[in-house]
Amino acid sequence: MRRQAKDVGLAIIGAGRVGLFRGEVASRHPAVKWIGIAETNHNRALDVAGKIEADFVTADYRELLARPEVTAVIIATDEHLHVGPIMAAIERGVPMLIEKPLATNLAQSADVLARLEAAGLDAVVGYTQRFRRKWLSGKEKVRVGALGDVTLVTSRAFMNRLVAIDNYKRTDNPASISPLVISGTHALDVVMWYMEAKTPVEVYARSVDKVLGKDYGGIDATAGLITFEDGSVYHLSISWALPVTWPGAVYSLEVGINGTHGVLTIDDTHRDMVLAVSAPQEEGYAPDSRRLVDFLGSYPPGDMALGELRGPMREETDSWLNRVSLGVPTPAATAREAHRNLMLTKALDLSAKLKRPIPLPLSEEHAALLA
Ligand SMILES: NC(=O)c1ccc[n+]([C@@H]2O[C@H](COP(=O)([O-])OP(=O)(O)OC[C@H]3O[C@@H](n4cnc5c(N)ncnc54)[C@H](O)[C@@H]3O)[C@@H](O)[C@H]2O)c1
Repeated sequence: MRRQAKDVGLAIIGAGRVGLFRGEVASRHPAVKWIGIAETNHNRALDVAGKIEADFVTADYRELLARPEVTAVIIATDEHLHVGPIMAAIERGVPMLIEKPLATNLAQSADVLARLEAAGLDAVVGYTQRFRRKWLSGKEKVRVGALGDVTLVTSRAFMNRLVAIDNYKRTDNPASISPLVISGTHALDVVMWYMEAKTPVEVYARSVDKVLGKDYGGIDATAGLITFEDGSVYHLSISWALPVTWPGAVYSLEVGINGTHGVLTIDDTHRDMVLAVSAPQEEGYAPDSRRLVDFLGSYPPGDMALGELRGPMREETDSWLNRVSLGVPTPAATAREAHRNLMLTKALDLSAKLKRPIPLPLSEEHAALLA
């Protein structure tokens, strides 16, 4: 028998950039019959509510979650403010789409994961790049064994400094922010998704801080190595200290996957569409008047065209709404995978700090250093 779509009453907690993108997609989804917003910034709440024709607006997420219409929740508050809304949504017992990370602290992330799994709730985490078609095609080739046994993966992520500066300015705890934890986690997630049958046993990394260290106490770039139980290796590097005038609005990524029978290279650098203008554009992650050249497509959620978001965040949001409404499986990252990604990125940062390899699973001593 064909599946019947269930109506969705959607609560969006945090109506910033991502909350608005997802809300706009949801407002066009046929199963979504009701949308409520919780946003602490009053003007922003009213603006977004108007744009997505929200049925209910409040500054208090508990008040939103108490509404009887709510059957699913999107949590899109700032990185360090996810835990409170997740715990409240667990109490309410509804499926959720959570922006990464579950928590910025590893012990707290483990606690959130345990609570989610004990409640048996369907919670997925916004690893949006899984929904970009090229990463899905690559996943399929690795999954069916076209490359044989994967032996070596490399990823190189280059990022505009604007992202780093924005993150360091917004945080109350710069030590919890790093290029790997905030941004490198997306490339790492895709690679770990490809390597899902393999168990990481050691991480090793080095970082540099000559640009962002001075003003923000931050890290510019990290290069690392993850070794797996079967001897295969993942070699990764990320810099989020590229000049503001670099054409990537946010990121540019290259991945190579070597196997015993084949190789797959993926160019996600966005060099295929280059816009050069005389006056700055007002769109994207953090519009900046110095940027006159742009790699179109380098803003991870996608691009606006004809009044609508086009790209991976749209696909991801539609896919999640179908999951909630129809019960269909989707390639979204689970809360467990999100926790693993946080653990790996934090362990790599710890290795860079201590200047020595970190064995996995984490020892109590290392876990305590990350708590
Ligand atoms: N999936 C992706 O590709 C992607 C892209 C960008 C950002 N993100 C993630 O999305 C999340 C939000 O990022 P953003 O760029 O939209 O940030 P943002 O600052 O634009 O939006 C966050 C919003 O949450 C609101 N908020 C904070 N605490 C709140 C609370 N307790 N109740 C209600 N509202 C609250 C803030 O006022 C703000 O408007 C972050 O976790 C970020 O890492 C994901």
